[in-house]
Amino acid sequence: MSSVPGQYQRVLSGMRSTGKLHLGHYHGVLQNWVRLQHEYECFFFVADWHALTTHYEDPSIIGDSVWEMVIDWLAVGVNPGSAKLFIQSQVPEHAELHLLLSMMTPISWLERVPTYKDQQEALKEKDLATYGFLGYPLLQSADILIYKAGQVPVGEDQVAHVELTREVARRFNHLYGRERDFEAKAEAAIKKMGKKNAKLYNELRRKFQEKGDHAALATAQALLESQGNITLGDRERLFGFLEGGGKIILPEPQALLTQASKMPGLDGQKMSKSYGNTIPLREEPEVVEKSLRTMPTDPARVRLTDPGDPGKCPVWPLHEVYSDDDTRKWVREGCRSASIGCLDCKQPMIDARNWHRFASGPKTLLKTPNWCAILSPKATRRRGMWRGILWKKCVQLWA
Ligand code: TRP
Ligand code: SF4
Repeated sequence: MSSVPGQYQRVLSGMRSTGKLHLGHYHGVLQNWVRLQHEYECFFFVADWHALTTHYEDPSIIGDSVWEMVIDWLAVGVNPGSAKLFIQSQVPEHAELHLLLSMMTPISWLERVPTYKDQQEALKEKDLATYGFLGYPLLQSADILIYKAGQVPVGEDQVAHVELTREVARRFNHLYGRERDFEAKAEAAIKKMGKKNAKLYNELRRKFQEKGDHAALATAQALLESQGNITLGDRERLFGFLEGGGKIILPEPQALLTQASKMPGLDGQKMSKSYGNTIPLREEPEVVEKSLRTMPTDPARVRLTDPGDPGKCPVWPLHEVYSDDDTRKWVREGCRSASIGCLDCKQPMIDARNWHRFASGPKTLLKTPNWCAILSPKATRRRGMWRGILWKKCVQLWA
């Protein structure tokens, strides 16, 4: 496995900007981001170019939803002081690396990615027999590899994209990480660490390569990390040399599987814009209240006197997410014995107004003049996007 220093502390994830976010996004993805931002160095970005692969005929929806989406993120507590937020199309290196990767990626690898055929089936009304759509996962690979991200939080459907990224990185390193005089350069770099460290490095490397000793590998990697006096190029050589390959230009990421949201839609199906059953993150309280009041319940409860089963009712999972133990007990008993009505059952949720706590969140922020400056290209660069440029220093294909 090809890794580089600090890689596993770095998390990167993106979200396509195709419309308003809803509570399904919150419980599936954003809650996770809010937690991760305190534990890792996080990069979160708006994948507006990815949105274009399916919305190329009407790109206007993308422009507005980029900003709407960032507001949603801020409203739920994604903090631009902790996580680095940016918009994909403001960092042209994404397109540049995508182009380079496209030169060496076999078409069959892309055709094999399950989402390619699945999405074409699911979105029959759109013509997705395009070059851009086939390359969707490869653009995602570029997003990840630019930042040398170690962990990529994704849902189950996207794990194959991270897998592809690893294969592409391996192929890239194999093709371009082998310099003609790689071994000589690595030997010279070892000497630069000083006698004692050089000896230690060689011993650890031998232990790993001859005996497969992974503890030795980890110690050697830590040793390299602590070396202040070697160049970036040498460091990459020595990381690669340890594992027996060439330079690790693009390290392989790991998928960090995000649990699917337990939050169903207003009709009990998965919450999704295409089913028209969502509770948007920032919706007027009256609108949400009305949706809750009219949402269907266990069909067995035709009359007030008919007992019901919370297990068959779309309202119950909302209680599971939002209500305390006492309320839930009251619901279970009241429903099964038909001693409460469905409107009674929904009332604590309506009163608690938990579901709309995000509506007012970013209002103060939005009143601040120029709040969107946090995502200006200049601010984006300042906040560490230099990593996006860093990889270029290591890739001198024609040198
Ligand atoms: N394809 C992802 C999705 O639909 C969005 C995305 C784009 C992404 N680039 C990424 C996710 C890089 C993780 C890493 O959800
Ligand atoms: Fe659903 Fe509550 Fe009505 Fe039971 S009482 S069917 S749980 S809404």
